[in-house]
Amino acid sequence: MKVGTTLILLFVALMGVEVIQGKPMGRIIDLDAYFEEADTNSQERVVGGYDVPEDEYVPYQVSMQFLTRSGQQRHFCGGSLIAPNRVLTAAHCVNGQNASRITVVAGIRDLNDSTGHRSQVQSYEMNENYQELVTSDIAILKIDPPFEVDQKRVSTIDVSGSEEVGADQEVLLTGWGSVFHFGTGPFAKYPTVLQKLSYKTLSNARCKETMTQLTDTEICALERFGKGACNGDSGGPLVMQKGESLKQVGVVSYGTAFCASNSPDVYTRVSMFDGWIAERMS
Ligand SMILES: *[C@@H]1O[C@H](CO)[C@@H](O)[C@H](O)[C@H]1NC(C)=O
Ligand SMILES: *[C@@H]1O[C@H](CO)[C@@H](O)[C@H](O)[C@H]1NC(C)=O
Repeated sequence: MKVGTTLILLFVALMGVEVIQGKPMGRIIDLDAYFEEADTNSQERVVGGYDVPEDEYVPYQVSMQFLTRSGQQRHFCGGSLIAPNRVLTAAHCVNGQNASRITVVAGIRDLNDSTGHRSQVQSYEMNENYQELVTSDIAILKIDPPFEVDQKRVSTIDVSGSEEVGADQEVLLTGWGSVFHFGTGPFAKYPTVLQKLSYKTLSNARCKETMTQLTDTEICALERFGKGACNGDSGGPLVMQKGESLKQVGVVSYGTAFCASNSPDVYTRVSMFDGWIAERMS
């Protein structure tokens, strides 16, 4: 069994029954139980990758935060700002969750920085074909108020276009580490400073050799040096340079590479959802 699958199975015990919004599909994570456990089991984990330099921002990156029973706002997934009032993330980040307990924060590189901007999730929509670890792990959040775009700390990322991204393309992943899939286990401790990792895409044919459930709706990337750099973030953006600007090509879905092995990381392939996203922008 693949490590990615194993890490997810660790969450079975945390499965919730709360059915709140959207049609939940498959397993649902009980985030209350998760954070209550996490607070009694702090365990340092190894973090690879690099801190985003001081005073530098990844302006399209947002932190999705869950309001715990004890009233704290806790980071649990990444996302990207695709319009001032729309966030793109993974379906498994919102599946079965209560939207009114989720906010998104923009304009920060350190999760401790209280000068960021926060906006409330009003509703979310998961792709109707989403199947955990199989396909279409993508969702769009409607947020209010819209973020004010200032280009330095807050801006949107382009997700348009249906052109397929090939193998061996230089891509950049950013994230604070995730509750899901990555890390040394569900009770790992996460960095507060945004991490980044540059690596390359690989062809779906090659990726499928290891990640056998792979479909066309996904794109893979592999850490060049195969070191366990535990910095991923479910729902977060994988981007590439396109001419003068950046384009988002993936949404962190599942994987193993950062922490353990030489296995590729699997992303939802954004270009396959061009029409689906466009319909939900207004
Ligand atoms: C969703 O969360 C809000 C805020 O915590 C709470 O008031 C509401 O009852 C919850 N909705 C459901 C259906 O549990
Ligand atoms: C962030 O805040 C936590 C809790 O207050 C603290 O333990 C941690 O050292 C802070 N991290 C940074 C990078 O300032």
